[in-house]
Amino acid sequence: MAPLRSMLLLSLTVFIFTSCRADPDPLQDFCVADLKSDITVNGFPCKPASNVASKDFFFSGLAVAGNTINMFGSNITAGSVQTFPGLNTLGLSMNRVDLAPGGVNPLHSHPHASEIGFVVQGEMLVGFISTADVFYSKVVKVGESFIIPRGLIHFQYNTGKENGVAITAFNSQLPGVVLAPLTLFGSKPSIPIDVLTKTFQVDASVIQLLMSKFGQATSPYN
Ligand code: GLV
Ligand code: MN
Repeated sequence: MAPLRSMLLLSLTVFIFTSCRADPDPLQDFCVADLKSDITVNGFPCKPASNVASKDFFFSGLAVAGNTINMFGSNITAGSVQTFPGLNTLGLSMNRVDLAPGGVNPLHSHPHASEIGFVVQGEMLVGFISTADVFYSKVVKVGESFIIPRGLIHFQYNTGKENGVAITAFNSQLPGVVLAPLTLFGSKPSIPIDVLTKTFQVDASVIQLLMSKFGQATSPYN
């Protein structure tokens, strides 16, 4: 094959490969996050290796059911670098999603990561919307899995009679979460009402109602 064609093929392969990755690759075995450091970098600085212990690589936070008594009937326990500092630089994290019957993990997206999930209890309708405005969804049952491509708006809604539990995993140590209702109607300071009425083509009273619901709402992620 001509060198130019090989170069083009290689560049394309590298481009496709790197554009599917989320966090950058680690440059060392581990870099347990020093969450208290004053130094701000892309991620967190490492604790000195002499202070690293076995406990830095284990996390029991997902063993405990979250409290779903809130307006959404859901709780998402985050196992990200912020709660599990051993994940720093490893490009991985996982959450536990607890849904009461009828509860929803509300419409949200993760700017930094794709998501894969596994249902361990109950059943849930899982859906996401593509950039072409196509809605993909399925009722996912115990033992079944789902994926959510990076950045797309998605949700889980408990369609069963018992509590639903899923474990989700991400190709980022900190996937980030943009919760649609809280972002749009609960930001501080709030988005100008004229922007929201024009965007959603409704009267100011509708926007005020939504702001009154979500202005003080707390995120189910913790
Ligand atoms: C589920 O969608 C999660 O973000 O954990
Ligand atoms: Mn999610």
